[in-house]
Amino acid sequence: MRSIRDITTLENVPVLVRASLNVPVENGKVTNEYRLQHTLPTLRYLAERGSRVIVVSHVGEQGAETLKPVVDALKRLIPRVSFFGESVGAGARAAARDLLPGHILVLENLRRHAGERANDPAFARELASLADVFVEDSFDTCHREHASIVGVPKFLPSYAGLQLEDEVRELSRALSPEHPALAAIGGMKFSTKEPVLAKLLATYDKVFVGGALASDFLKAEGTDVGKSLVSGADPEAIKKLLDNPKLVLPVDSVSKDGVIVDHGPGTRALLADLASRSKTILWNGPFGEYEKGFGDTTDAFAEAVAASGAYSVVGGGDTVAAIEHLGLLSHFSFVSTGGGAMLDFLARGTLPGIAVLG
Ligand code: 3PG
Repeated sequence: MRSIRDITTLENVPVLVRASLNVPVENGKVTNEYRLQHTLPTLRYLAERGSRVIVVSHVGEQGAETLKPVVDALKRLIPRVSFFGESVGAGARAAARDLLPGHILVLENLRRHAGERANDPAFARELASLADVFVEDSFDTCHREHASIVGVPKFLPSYAGLQLEDEVRELSRALSPEHPALAAIGGMKFSTKEPVLAKLLATYDKVFVGGALASDFLKAEGTDVGKSLVSGADPEAIKKLLDNPKLVLPVDSVSKDGVIVDHGPGTRALLADLASRSKTILWNGPFGEYEKGFGDTTDAFAEAVAASGAYSVVGGGDTVAAIEHLGLLSHFSFVSTGGGAMLDFLARGTLPGIAVLG
């Protein structure tokens, strides 16, 4: 993977940066700046060397949102930032061309164009025409085969940004863990978690499955999960994982109206004990309906990991928000900006947006 540090000439060079500006916005205000903070090292690196920095990103899922409030938040973190309300076209090209060295121009939400998600080569070429060099610094989207991620590198010399380099280094380290190693995977959707569970069961000593994801396993084991949502996953695939002695399931639960909303005190004690005996802890996905106020197990595990002294890696928007809420982020060794991207990287050891960087 070529690094931004390998670019020899940056002074007055237009550089297109795929950044991670997909942050939560409520009533026109950014409610969590965690990802924005992590875009700063690469933006500073380029601006301080006199590049003309053109930033592209998506925000929200479908393309309805604007990046304007995100840029307002970014302006408070780094100087000389401006916004242009289109991402391609004559206006965007003119704004990019007129940009002064050391200045940063953020273009509008890429997902307003169907060509982004469709990985349309014509759209990728238009984006590439804005600059001479491409820097990928949006680890959280590197699992998506979108135009700004895998299309643009076909047209420009392409490099990894500083945040992307950190992610690859730390998550690669987590893939060869110091033992004893504990992985904890929560959240939902068995189908998206199956590859990473299989990989972690091969490399870690204990793999705890919690949150809604656990209901699939508990049901397959014959435990009554009441009205809890199960994903309808292939029972054979679940059975195969259940047979692995490294797999750890919750031992008790808290239910509301027949639905499991959190795990109980026995599970919290089990997790605390495992965490205290681990040298590596990897965590993605909250346990229980955290957003509805059922966060006891998530909070207790965050405390246990923070106190463990283990090398700890955490990712996933909801998990990171929960840890941040407790004021414990600085106690974790590495906090990934990726959710789905982190799981895919752990399962495959690379991602489409990383593989194209050569
Ligand atoms: C994320 O928040 O996980 C990334 O920014 C990717 O967003 P997406 O799931 O809408 O592609």
